[in-house]
Amino acid sequence: MRKVTVVGAGKYGSMTAARVAALDIVDEVVMTDIVEGLPQGLALDMNESRPIEKYRTLVVGTNDYKDTADSDVVVITAGLPRKPGMSRMDLLEVNAKIVKQVTEQIMEYSPDTILVVVTNPLDHMTTLAQEVSGLPHSKVMGQAGMLDSARFAHFVSEKAHVDVLDVEALTLGSHGPTMVPVPSQCRVAGKPLSDVLSPEEIEEIVERTRGGGAEIVALLKTGSAYFAPSSAAAHMVNAILQDTKEVLPVSAWVSGEYGITDVYLGVPAKLGRGGVEQIVELDLTDSELEALREAAVAVKAKIDDLHSLTL
Ligand code: APR
Repeated sequence: MRKVTVVGAGKYGSMTAARVAALDIVDEVVMTDIVEGLPQGLALDMNESRPIEKYRTLVVGTNDYKDTADSDVVVITAGLPRKPGMSRMDLLEVNAKIVKQVTEQIMEYSPDTILVVVTNPLDHMTTLAQEVSGLPHSKVMGQAGMLDSARFAHFVSEKAHVDVLDVEALTLGSHGPTMVPVPSQCRVAGKPLSDVLSPEEIEEIVERTRGGGAEIVALLKTGSAYFAPSSAAAHMVNAILQDTKEVLPVSAWVSGEYGITDVYLGVPAKLGRGGVEQIVELDLTDSELEALREAAVAVKAKIDDLHSLTL
């Protein structure tokens, strides 16, 4: 039986569970949470949409980790979202406690699974999940780059008045202030981004992309983004389970590529049944490469903070 577990039945988790179920590529999506009744009620609601949407995957809501046993992929969304004015890093301690506890329980029942982490601060929670799980680095990754790239693409389409599906955009680095939007890799209907937007317009979009999550948090006043984030998480699950070998920007363990060592960082990675099967080294400009290396340094500094916590 093919099975995906989503831990956390909040906004991000429930939308991810619904999106993965609708792909109809697994037998079961298990959704678990500490709140009793929440995953069960949402699962029932999702299952009742199956006759309309025409898919078979069953969503199982539970508070018991036994039901997660033998999952092929586990998406960890449990944790607090930001409030207006907070940075993702403000969530470090509270979410580290949750992610540690969740990872331990998942590993008890699915020792060979692949973990996709989305809880913030993203690169740090991905690091923690790998350390706690003891899984090979290739089997633990984080979702951020697909979302940030999608935000970048959306902003380009609006600014340049072009079809969003004609825009290819890429962001690398951290899911935070040292995010590295990569204009040199962006294309609009095959043309370089610099052919359709001025340097000032590109810079404006780069800044808006870096603050893309905070912009939504400020508007919502409570909670953070989950429509586009869950699209990205579900797409990663699909790439892994369907062994598509797609190259997607994800938080992956970098060990030498781009001259960067031993850190989880947003890089282009080939995803397949083995998890992260290869880190792809793109031809970046000197300033983009420099920014990526700075992002690695910034993530590593906060990993030291993470390791100093008593969890
Ligand atoms: N085990 C399981 N679930 C937990 C645990 C735990 N130990 N602790 C908290 N949860 C659940 C909560 O009960 C809640 O249902 O995690 C869920 C979080 O849902 P939301 O508050 O709606 O937050 P969401 O928007 O889903 O964001 C989750 O993703 O994007 C990141 O920054 C965001 O870290 C946050 C995470």
